[in-house]
Amino acid sequence: MEREKVLVSAEETARQKEYMDKVRALHERRTTKPLAYVHTYGCQQNVADGERLMGMLREMGCDFTDDTKRADIVLMNTCAIRENAEKTVYGMLGQLTHTKAANPDQIICLCGCMAQQPRVAEKVKNSYRHVDLVLGPQAEWRFPELLYRAYTERGRVFSIDDEPGRIAEDIPVYRVGGVSAWVSIMYGCNNFCSYCIVPYVRGRERSREPAQIVREVRELVAAGYKEITLLGQNVNSYGKDLGTGYDFADLLAEIDRIDGDYWVRFMSSQPKDATPKLFDTMAASRHVTHQLHLPVQSGNDRVLRAMNRPYTRAGYLELINYARRVMPDLVLTSDIIIGFPGETEAEAMDTVSLINEVHFDALFTFIFSPRPGTPAAKLDDPTPREEKQRWFDALCNAQNAISTAKHAAYIGKTVRVLVEGESDDADWPLSARTEGNRLVRMKGDKSLIGTFATAKISDSNTWALYGAAEETI
Ligand code: 5AD
Ligand code: SF4
Repeated sequence: MEREKVLVSAEETARQKEYMDKVRALHERRTTKPLAYVHTYGCQQNVADGERLMGMLREMGCDFTDDTKRADIVLMNTCAIRENAEKTVYGMLGQLTHTKAANPDQIICLCGCMAQQPRVAEKVKNSYRHVDLVLGPQAEWRFPELLYRAYTERGRVFSIDDEPGRIAEDIPVYRVGGVSAWVSIMYGCNNFCSYCIVPYVRGRERSREPAQIVREVRELVAAGYKEITLLGQNVNSYGKDLGTGYDFADLLAEIDRIDGDYWVRFMSSQPKDATPKLFDTMAASRHVTHQLHLPVQSGNDRVLRAMNRPYTRAGYLELINYARRVMPDLVLTSDIIIGFPGETEAEAMDTVSLINEVHFDALFTFIFSPRPGTPAAKLDDPTPREEKQRWFDALCNAQNAISTAKHAAYIGKTVRVLVEGESDDADWPLSARTEGNRLVRMKGDKSLIGTFATAKISDSNTWALYGAAEETI
């Protein structure tokens, strides 16, 4: 699609601003400020979407509540990646019949990835009649207009057209993450991994202009943010649609030139587009952390092909060997799917052997969940769930032993951490992250929250490091 059509024009943005004013005017007629309840499920990209939806709600005169009974607007920002995520949302929607019965003026809004699927919209249309507004991620920038329609039209509003997607700048953001900020650098996905629903619900890959991203990061650093996470379904293909040759490594290098005391992270990455240039750029940077989340999904070449992941086990190993050569302190994590349709036990064990070969710092592990509309959902899947569970447990046991050993190696070391907040453990009252994004529970003064500190690590387990703050640096 032509670039001008991808970018939301200034006139279109101004129109949405007008709708924000109109909704705010409606809200101001009330005796009290309206309260919005916003719940976000799923990945960081969705969290970033939630922050934009909340930013628009605040601009429209809302305050926030975490009680659905008190809320004038309930917004469920949903995820579609696995069946469980959807089941939770249907359960929640069921409960909202009661809040709506008690307060018939309550506006219930379903957005996010689940809302973009025609089968979900149909079900909501027929069986969840208390839902007033349904909009997919592609329509997010038009939320003010859609909310205005939900208030002023008699019927329910559905905006779930299968659009390739646009890029809207200057949407207000309500940041919820303390000194950590999410920055979407691109939207959508073109990869069509055979198990994945994302390309169907988030449209085609489209990259924001480098200047817009750099400006946003500069403003965040100036405002005191200490951790900036660049987001995209596949950040390694950033820039391909710009047609200028400018790529993700160029963007990282440009951001890195911004002075200040901050870390840059990014996610998620596809191995097929990860390049030595990217790793060299990370190694040479001042702010980009030596941390990489590089989902491999499987350690077996036949399964990788069936998943439509165009790389091999050997290719993946070569890639991370290079990354570790230029960044010996690299913290490496990955995603794995066990039980892809037709996967044999031997193939699943190839994944376990890959885990034992690579020694990831941590893994996000999933059992295959068929997503209607994807090619993998149509494949024969004869392996019983209990069998898959056994393979899954073998995988988790292997990784847990590795994570435990990796964490134990930190004991006695002093590491730089970003103190994020309080923990729920009175013995280790602070919660922090290392440069490699490992969780640290630590002793120290609350005044350290929001700052970089050094922590001496004294204990560890599979999930976290434990230590004490030494001094602020
Ligand atoms: N079933 C199980 N896991 C999935 N993922 C994506 N789609 C599915 C599915 N249908 C996992 C992948 C991806 C992570 C975000 O979720 O591992 O990297
Ligand atoms: Fe994120 Fe994918 Fe879930 Fe959408 S479906 S919220 S993109 S993980």
